[in-house]
Amino acid sequence: MKLIGPFKQVVTLANLPLRGKLSDEQIEIIVDGGIVVDQNTIQKVGNFETLKAENPTIEIENIEGEQIVLPAFVDSHTHICFGGNRANDFAMRNAGKTYLEIAESGGGIWSSVQHTRNASEEELLKTLVERINFLIDLGITTIEVKSGYGLDVENELKMLRIIKKAQNETKATLVPTCLSAHLKPRDFEGSNSEYLNYIITEILPKVKEEELANRVDIFIEKSAFQPEESKEFLLKAKALGFEITVHADQFTPGSSRIAVEVGAKSADHLEATIDEDIEFLAKSDTVATALPGASLGLGEKFTPARKLLDAGAIVAIASDWNPGSAPMGNLITQASILATFQKLTTAEVLAGMTFRAAYALNLEDRGRLEAGKKADFVTFRTNNFQNVLYNQGSLKAELVYIDGNKK
Ligand code: NIG
Ligand code: FE
Repeated sequence: MKLIGPFKQVVTLANLPLRGKLSDEQIEIIVDGGIVVDQNTIQKVGNFETLKAENPTIEIENIEGEQIVLPAFVDSHTHICFGGNRANDFAMRNAGKTYLEIAESGGGIWSSVQHTRNASEEELLKTLVERINFLIDLGITTIEVKSGYGLDVENELKMLRIIKKAQNETKATLVPTCLSAHLKPRDFEGSNSEYLNYIITEILPKVKEEELANRVDIFIEKSAFQPEESKEFLLKAKALGFEITVHADQFTPGSSRIAVEVGAKSADHLEATIDEDIEFLAKSDTVATALPGASLGLGEKFTPARKLLDAGAIVAIASDWNPGSAPMGNLITQASILATFQKLTTAEVLAGMTFRAAYALNLEDRGRLEAGKKADFVTFRTNNFQNVLYNQGSLKAELVYIDGNKK
């Protein structure tokens, strides 16, 4: 057992509700605070001197200078296992080229599939771990990672096995998700429904057998999979015991409704969600995940996070880090920018990157600094926690704790 502190501010996020809008007055701040950690769990949070007086012999891990502490962040949506690079897509898009022109010149998701299939396992593992370390340095200690650039049995399993291997090389928690339904690969001979059926019969049983993932995702969109075939697929995946998450309403509305109807843990993107479906989402337990990194990467509008929160939805914010639409990877910068465009309170942004995102991953053991939670937290060298979002990502995390230990 040890007492870590003192911190100028301990921002606990305790007692904030899971859903709906939040005001900054609701944020609990313990001034000159400390955190008692036992093994990998938070035992108590409170005033540093009081905690010390309560247990005079406790080992103290001293925090130098003025620092504030927050629960470590959770990135609940990434595609950080990939080969190659799509800088040329980015440049072409900015030069006014269309989706089709980019695809025809060898870009798009298919190019990442080819690069990922051709990459060696060593190379994929190495670059994945590098990206994980980049996220940890930002203060993110729980990271969802999708497959979806393999798109056949061999290569989807290759990706998921690499994600599993990466878990042995990092103290961060990785949450793998099978996104074989990202796109029907060009070399699949058959219809969309036939490809979805192939995932159900050929890929998911092996994913289950090898315990590679317990979550399934699909990209429902005009250019990918259509609503009806997707719903059928998701119900089958659910019947196999998988949790569901959906790439929904990115360019065209309608699919967030399907996510809710199948009981998905989250519906992600939602840039094109119509008002009626915002209400539908808000009444459900499906987390609405904003992905500002994709809006910034594509130059498209942001997820209507303000409306979703006002309607009472559970809103998370994630990076969507991927080689195509969201190449940045800096969740703190992205969430800060989303806040300025969508008029989100600091409480709403911090909740969206911590316990609300954790809920989307079924990890309710983290995301708040309170007794019983996993001892993952991040400090910043400042005396005011508002500076974290105010600096839009340029105030770097100072210390990142995972299971009560500095990484
Ligand atoms: O979440 N929307 C679909 N999939 C990804 C993009 C992946 C890619 O372009 O490689 C996304 O934005
Ligand atoms: Fe995505």
